[in-house]
Amino acid sequence: VSAFSVACLRHMSVSDDYRRYYPKVNTHSDDNIAAGRSHVDETKRFQNVTSFYYQSAIDAAAVQPSVRLTPAAILYSGKSADRSHILRSCQYLHNELPVRIAHRVNGFRNLPFIVGCHPKLLQVHELYIRAFHILSDFGPIRDLDQERRWSESLRCLLDDHKDVVTQLAEGFSECRKYIHDEALIKTFLDRTLTSRLGIRMLSEHHLSLHEEKPSHVGIINTNFSPRKLIEKKAEFIGSVCEVKYGKAPKVKINGHVNATFPYIQAPLDYILGELLKNAMRATVESNHGSLLPDVTVTIANSDHHFVIRISDRGGGIPDKIVGKVMDYNFTTSGNTVDDRLDGGLFGQIMDTGHTGPAPGKMHGYGFGLPTSHAYAKYLGGALTLETLEGIGTDLYLRLSHIDGRSESFRI
Ligand code: COI
Repeated sequence: VSAFSVACLRHMSVSDDYRRYYPKVNTHSDDNIAAGRSHVDETKRFQNVTSFYYQSAIDAAAVQPSVRLTPAAILYSGKSADRSHILRSCQYLHNELPVRIAHRVNGFRNLPFIVGCHPKLLQVHELYIRAFHILSDFGPIRDLDQERRWSESLRCLLDDHKDVVTQLAEGFSECRKYIHDEALIKTFLDRTLTSRLGIRMLSEHHLSLHEEKPSHVGIINTNFSPRKLIEKKAEFIGSVCEVKYGKAPKVKINGHVNATFPYIQAPLDYILGELLKNAMRATVESNHGSLLPDVTVTIANSDHHFVIRISDRGGGIPDKIVGKVMDYNFTTSGNTVDDRLDGGLFGQIMDTGHTGPAPGKMHGYGFGLPTSHAYAKYLGGALTLETLEGIGTDLYLRLSHIDGRSESFRI
């Protein structure tokens, strides 16, 4: 009997059911509670989620539109000595996050029944119901003391949700035999992952308004250097590659290496990590001598946008799968599409050290490229590739500037 049907039939606590049926996978917040980090005690937590049904507050929020902000609006929103900008930011999020989370709950409700019943997907569905109540049951935020307490809850929730992408990847990959309409699942994942990116960026932005960090306005680095980030990612991924393969290609950076401009680093941190990981793995796996061809990264900055091209000599992608590289890796045939696309052993080592808006292990399920593709589109840009079979692949990440001089995406 699934946790879902028990919960629906008996109208009892879904959390209690998880504890009974899936004690090992019920990871969220137990550790936090043990460490004294949780903002809700056990009793309160179980009151928060009593059922997937009878969620009238979520139903009401789910029909409201979300209010999305341009990065320029965030960048130039101003700062006041009495910290009223922090209070205003909190009041906006206190209204906005429950609406966005209710939209996510709706996404789970609309999954095909047997897919939505997968324990790991139910677990994420439950996390969102719980987050909705924790954030919206708080009552109006009128002063900085209430703001501080609400923001502490938000910080805990970001931590409780850190493995959501892994849970989704594992859940969908385990129930792929029930997936008949892949486009529907792709739409669900694109929406869920990009909306989550937006929620996490807004949340991190608000939380970082409490700190003073040089050259930063919240999450916006006003002096962002693509070269520095590429160097940092190349060093980290290169060391992982060394551990796995005993060697790693060098990463050469050329083009506008001195360019700096305001940007939000967190999503780029993720995307560049995924692209460099793919390029390095392909290089090592298709070159058997000790001399490895470099991975070359070119930066091209212009008035309205910038492009980062990552070129490898990793043998290219065969014609028969090149059209599928931006698809989430689950097929009705039940086969992994191609080793290049899944994390493999390399992916398992990559589980550590990942921070940013989509942390957690998300490798080994063919999520890296499609997620990067969805993030790039969400950021008003594009991720495309050109491949030369037998030679190598070029990935082009094209993004627009966020300084307000051109048409912008909204978070
Ligand atoms: C997520 O990380 O899944 C979120 O949506 C974060 C939010 C609950 C604060």
